[in-house]
Amino acid sequence: MMKVLITGSNGQLGRTLRYKKPSNIELIALTRDDLDLSSEKSINEIIKFHQPEWVINAGAYTSVDLAEDNQEIANQINANAPKLIAKCLSDIGGKLLHISTDYVFDGKQSHPYEPNQTTNPINVYGLTKAKGEKEATKLGNTKIIRTSWLYGPMGKNFLTTMLKLHSLKAEKSEPLFVVSDQIGSPTSTLTLAEACWKSLNIKEDSTKIIHWSDSGCASWYDLAVAIGELGVKSELISKSANVKPIKAKDYPRKAKRPYNSMLDCSASEALIGINQYYWRFALWDTLVYMKENKFCLD
Ligand SMILES: NC(=O)c1ccc[n+]([C@@H]2O[C@H](COP(=O)([O-])OP(=O)(O)OC[C@H]3O[C@@H](n4cnc5c(N)ncnc54)[C@H](OP(=O)(O)O)[C@@H]3O)[C@@H](O)[C@H]2O)c1
Repeated sequence: MMKVLITGSNGQLGRTLRYKKPSNIELIALTRDDLDLSSEKSINEIIKFHQPEWVINAGAYTSVDLAEDNQEIANQINANAPKLIAKCLSDIGGKLLHISTDYVFDGKQSHPYEPNQTTNPINVYGLTKAKGEKEATKLGNTKIIRTSWLYGPMGKNFLTTMLKLHSLKAEKSEPLFVVSDQIGSPTSTLTLAEACWKSLNIKEDSTKIIHWSDSGCASWYDLAVAIGELGVKSELISKSANVKPIKAKDYPRKAKRPYNSMLDCSASEALIGINQYYWRFALWDTLVYMKENKFCLD
């Protein structure tokens, strides 16, 4: 058995990691109440107590807009905590699998970002995550999985929000406006969790940063249309709304978002040992999972 500790285990990825746990893993799934990533004392005490072989750091400050006004706490959780976890693990001979984001890039390039390209975040969340990547990899016991546009059957995310909005707008016969000029690869927590678990077995030591997303490309608008169509097909919602494209500049938010969030995952299949899955297939599987497990959208 391999002893693995997960931080942020109540988050959308954390919960799916628990659900997808392989049988040879002894799992210590910790929430914010068990291990507070903003506290050096909590990190050191809890990790030293459990002595895991691996930590999967699924905890993070993920409120992209709120981070603009809360840089200090976002920095503590996204940058300082991974550094402290990596240091603590190196003292006990353990390793860190840290999760990062497409938001470390500025989104200005027209093709997918490669793992070793220079980062250039355009918002505070991305800045703190980029710092976390640098800090966590200094001691050589960390691998990073960068992912993009994460959604899952559990928690508040684009999928669960859009399912509710489709029902609400369809009921009122109102259009649902969604940004169409930002693109990326939607990624299901179900496929990402599998990639995370498999990554713990990677023998090769020199690769520090791995890109993992579902395959293909979509705009937020494309994703919202697909959620409506497949949401009705899966019978999770009874009606879909009329989705209308808008430009990001007409949907102002506190934090800037990259226009191109695509990650080049071409090296990852061979490295991790699983095949990438087309984003619409992964979306369908997630909806079926929600239907079968009677997920309530209230
Ligand atoms: N969501 C995306 O679109 C996206 C895209 C790319 C990469 N990522 C990365 O993927 C990873 C997982 O994200 P996610 O979407 O699963 O996030 P999530 O659903 O927001 O979960 C984050 C978890 O972190 C926990 N957390 C926050 N502050 C904490 C603290 N001080 N101590 C301990 N735990 C704390 C939260 O606890 P509570 O439940 O108590 O709030 C929550 O359970 C993150 O590293 C994120 O940066 C996400």
